[in-house]
Amino acid sequence: MNVKRIRTNRQIQACFSVIRQLRPHVTEADFVVRVRRQEETGFCLAGVFNGRVVCAVAGYRVSECLSRGRNLYVDDLVTDEHRRSQGIGKLMLDWLIAEARRQKCNHLALDSGVQRFGAHRFYLRHGMNITAHHFALDL
Ligand SMILES: CC(C)(COP(=O)(O)OP(=O)(O)OC[C@H]1O[C@@H](n2cnc3c(N)ncnc32)[C@H](O)[C@@H]1OP(=O)(O)O)[C@@H](O)C(=O)NCCC(=O)NCCS
Repeated sequence: MNVKRIRTNRQIQACFSVIRQLRPHVTEADFVVRVRRQEETGFCLAGVFNGRVVCAVAGYRVSECLSRGRNLYVDDLVTDEHRRSQGIGKLMLDWLIAEARRQKCNHLALDSGVQRFGAHRFYLRHGMNITAHHFALDL
């Protein structure tokens, strides 16, 4: 298994079957276009690969704000449903932490839906703290 930045359209397409497990509203027809558009504002994709097979995907961005300074924000993190509980999520999270350090960030953050109890256990187990409430308004 190794973790790679996703760069080509073919690699992006290969992530779709995994990302759809977390983002079921995203269609295969739209996926590459959406990723490419998001990249214009700093979005990146990375994946855990077993050969050419994508086992986990993370979407993230590095940015800077007054509250947190330079930080890596994880938009998306998902392991293929047939490969969970094998340490692949930890491999992806460890890579994201290393990437944040490589990019001189002093903070890694993400939002997780209140219903995702399993994911919360995973984050807490890996030393993350719950530090905010997320407020949202549908427009
Ligand atoms: C959270 C997630 C990325 C962890 O990936 P993973 O490859 O299973 O991670 P690891 O094998 O390193 O760690 C497994 C631990 O994650 C937690 N976990 C959370 N959801 C889980 C699930 N659906 N299946 C298995 N483990 C899950 C458990 O604490 C588990 O520990 P256990 O095996 O001792 O029960 C993965 O479970 C997943 O993709 N969940 C669905 C999508 C999701 O909720 N993503 C987070 C969005 S904020």
